[in-house]
Parts: sequence; structure tokens; C-alpha cells
Amino acid sequence: MAVINIFNPLIPNDIYHGDSRNLLKRIEHNSIALSVWSPPYYVGKEYEKDLSFDDWKSLLIDVIALHFSIIKPGGFLAVNIADILCFKDESMPKIMAENVSRRKIALSKEEILAVKEMHPDWNRYKLAEHFGCSEQTIDRRLNGNNIRGGKYQSQTRIFLVGGLIEGAAKDAGFYLYDRRIWVKDAAWENSRWHTISYRSVDESEYLYIFWKPGITKVDRARLTKEEWVNWGSRGVWDIPSVRSNADHDSKFPVELPRRVIKLFTEPGEIVLDCFMGSGTTALAAIREGRKYIGIDKEKRSVEIAKKAIDSISKYTKEPEQMDLMLRDLEASYGIG
Ligand SMILES: C[S@@+](CC[C@H](N)C(=O)[O-])C[C@H]1O[C@@H](n2cnc3c(N)ncnc32)[C@H](O)[C@@H]1O
Repeated sequence: MAVINIFNPLIPNDIYHGDSRNLLKRIEHNSIALSVWSPPYYVGKEYEKDLSFDDWKSLLIDVIALHFSIIKPGGFLAVNIADILCFKDESMPKIMAENVSRRKIALSKEEILAVKEMHPDWNRYKLAEHFGCSEQTIDRRLNGNNIRGGKYQSQTRIFLVGGLIEGAAKDAGFYLYDRRIWVKDAAWENSRWHTISYRSVDESEYLYIFWKPGITKVDRARLTKEEWVNWGSRGVWDIPSVRSNADHDSKFPVELPRRVIKLFTEPGEIVLDCFMGSGTTALAAIREGRKYIGIDKEKRSVEIAKKAIDSISKYTKEPEQMDLMLRDLEASYGIG
């Protein structure tokens, strides 16, 4: 058995309450086969409201750096994250949109200009009277100043997060081994300004998989032939989002960590999630006969995770029953 030189180490099969930046230091070196997690996305959730953009970047960079010593040589770090679709940028010019399809009054700029040519002295009030509309409508048609999101809102652009994660992992000593796309349900709540733009709603996230140099045991028998064909060898994973997020508002579906765990670890190995939330990764680890360590800074998350773990642990010898229970946990409001 390995000698643990760390004071008060985190013992597997438990969920710990605290900041990952402190608790990761208490994990035995080279002990984790796979760490799989989904961090705050910097999209204004309650658990990230105190973070500035720089704080958020530092959190990700620090947590990734702390992983290098605790992951086994040949082991993996898998980060699930999405790009930021509405990244506020004060310096961005106001997006001017002339929203032709939503006009209540069918009046074009060309029509106004034609009348203006005949009556060059008419101001917008006179033109409004002529067309039977408001002077704002005339102004909007002529100047296209229907500003996206209102005149005083700062504008938003897209921020690609992958480069930040890749850079942090590379600096820590990891190598990008693979990346997969999780196709989920369309996230309409992120589409606030979409009626006056050509932007799409978000319907996918990424899974970045980093490798720590060392010998990686490749055992293709971990997956059935069907699993290899359907998802093991596929870059795009179609997994519906969790329907009910009532107990924790950013759960990922248990199928996501389950696939990663099955693919990258052996039964009995330790899986870590240092942004554990409602305990999904632990549930997936239990389902696949792996050990887990979970960390979350919110006491409520730790309580929810422990309760969920308790409710499925009694079915470890009955996988069908456990699957039913996991489905129930994803669908119900009842564990909070
Ligand atoms: C995106 S959620 C993870 C949800 C989880 N995958 C699930 O299925 O429930 C991120 C979690 O990270 C936790 N968190 C945020 N900052 C943290 C930190 N510094 N240390 C530990 N946990 C943190 C939040 O409380 C939240 O539960």
C-alpha cells in the first residue's frame, strides 16, 4: 500500500465540503485514475456570483494545476464545459439591427427616402404624420438604431473557453488526448437577443480529455461491441439534458460521467469530481463499480449528493434496480 505523506488525506467514497483549491492538496499523489468535472461556466449562477472574470479564470487554472500530482501516470482529467454565449463586453460596439421580420408597420427605409426626396424640408415628425406612424419608427428605419439589448445594456459576444482549459492543462503537464462533443437539449434561456440577431442557441458542450504521461492500460473489453459502435469510438455524444434541475441548477446527466468512467478506468479505481454538485459523478462511479471522491464548496450540494448516494448504494448488487433509481433521481424533485 502506498505511503500517504499528506496530513489528513481525503479517503475515497466520501463527499467533502470545501474549496477544491484547498482540498485537492489533501489527495494522495498518483492515486486518481480519472478526474471528471464540470466547473462554474461564468454565466451568472448563484455559486459563482462572487467571481470576477479573472477570479474564474484563476480558479480553473489553479484547480487544473493541482491535479497533476494526484492523477496516476497514464491517467486522465476530463473537463466538461461550454463556451460562453453571452459574454459581456463593454468595449464592443452596439449591434445595430434592422429587424425587418418583426416590424409591426410595413414601412421601408426606401419608401421614406422617396418621400423625403420630394419634400426635403420635412422632418421626422412631418414624415411620421404622412405615414401615420411614430417619429421613432421613422428614426429607426432611417438610422437603423434599434440597438440590440437596449441602449444601455453592454453588448455580448461569444467567448471560446477551450483555449483557456487547454493552456492551463498544458502548463500543468497534461496533454490534450481527445475531445468529444456532448449534444444536449437546446438552451433557450441563453437566447435572449436571438430574435434580433442571426445567432444560434446553444445545444452542445465539450468534453476535453487530458492525459498525464505514463502507461495507459488500453482494454477494449471494458465496453461491449455495441457500446464501442454507439459511443465509445464516436466524437459526438447525444445525451438529453437533465429534465429537472430543481435540486441543483446545473446537473449534468449521469450518462455523461458514466461513459467517461467506463471508457477510462478499471473497476475499483478512484474517480474524482472536485465540482461535485448534486453528486452525479459519484452516482455514475458507484453504478460502474468504481470508487469516488467528491468535493463541493456549497454545504447544500454536499447534502444533496450524500442523500442521492445513500439512495442508490443499497442497490449495488441489483444494476437494473439501480438504473431505475438513477432515472428517478434525474427526473424527480425529491432529493433536495
Ligand atoms: C456546474 S456545477 C456541477 C454540477 C454537477 N456536475 C452535477 O451534476 O450536479 C459546479 C459546482 O461547483 C461548485 N463549486 C464552485 N466553485 C467551487 C470551488 N471553488 N470549490 C469546490 N466547489 C465549487 C458549485 O457549488 C457547483 O455545485
